[in-house]
Amino acid sequence: MPEPTPQDQMARMITGYWISQMVHVAARLGLADHLADGPRTAEELARLTGSHARSLYRLLRALASVGVFSEDGDGRFRPTPLGDCLRNDVPGSQRAMALMMGEEHFHCWGDLLESVRTGQTAFDRLYGQPIFDYLAEHAEQAEVFDAAMTATHGRETQSTLDSYDFAGIHVLADIGGGNASNLIAILKHDPEMRGILFDLPHVVERARPNIEAAGVADRCEVVVGSFFDGIPVEADAYFLRHIIHDWDDEKAGLILRNIRRAMPGGARLLVVEHVLPPGDEPSFGKLLDLTMLLLPGGAERTAQEFEALYQRAGFRLTRIVPIDGDLSVIEGEAG
Ligand SMILES: C[S@@+](CC[C@H](N)C(=O)[O-])C[C@H]1O[C@@H](n2cnc3c(N)ncnc32)[C@H](O)[C@@H]1O
Repeated sequence: MPEPTPQDQMARMITGYWISQMVHVAARLGLADHLADGPRTAEELARLTGSHARSLYRLLRALASVGVFSEDGDGRFRPTPLGDCLRNDVPGSQRAMALMMGEEHFHCWGDLLESVRTGQTAFDRLYGQPIFDYLAEHAEQAEVFDAAMTATHGRETQSTLDSYDFAGIHVLADIGGGNASNLIAILKHDPEMRGILFDLPHVVERARPNIEAAGVADRCEVVVGSFFDGIPVEADAYFLRHIIHDWDDEKAGLILRNIRRAMPGGARLLVVEHVLPPGDEPSFGKLLDLTMLLLPGGAERTAQEFEALYQRAGFRLTRIVPIDGDLSVIEGEAG
């Protein structure tokens, strides 16, 4: 195979969203779940999903051409290992991510030009309110958001446990811990540890049954509130994964100062975020940074930017422990 030319590579970049929208529609229609019990034709799937059979066939054929499904000689489709990731009920399911990325995120990315011109978030412009207020009013989207966080960040918990030593942490507070899947996994990993989940009221209501079902309710406290109003939580470590990047320096500083105010002597701050590498180095964080511009109005940061942010909020950045790629634990203590 000859090396793709710059024109080939650019054409692939330009049409990249075709595939992400194909995957989104497959997720919306639940195609992978409908195929879980065996292969089906496009006509059968069209009946099950209320779709137009010929158009659905064209979508399935295109998805099969990129490895998501495969078509047999009788025109029946089955999922491949890639397609199985779109099932609802499988460990590591990516369905919620595909749902979320193809809806609010897709619309906001369509407005990137305006955000680059003005520096304002696309979400507030398109939906008339900040994303976390919108989620509080839209239960279905909020549930998808929580599940998408687990889909995209779920495997980071194990890498964090593998890379960062939690010894000496008897009480861990997960600030903005969402549906509690991260805290549950950490508590299961260390049966002696106690946990505190802190998040907004509608989020913790969805998290409570997960904590019960995981059998850790006896060592997991749930505290409800907004981290801008105060964080009335005493712990040995304050764990914030993908929280600080949602906010500009002013709001991120307010969250950190509220932790600084609440934390007992000797407690640690553990922020898990991408630390942007310098120069042209490829980095998922550099792409995610634009999502932060478009949706919540935050930013990914460099090591120097974290250091300055910590200092302004009364912390000393003690070390940066890499977890996976440019994702790291940015450890701090009162300073
Ligand atoms: C990007 S998600 C990260 C979730 C989780 N930490 C993870 O790594 O998957 C941001 C979280 O911050 C929570 N959040 C947003 N605004 C908040 C506020 N004012 N007070 C407390 N939590 C908030 C959201 O409900 C959500 O669970």
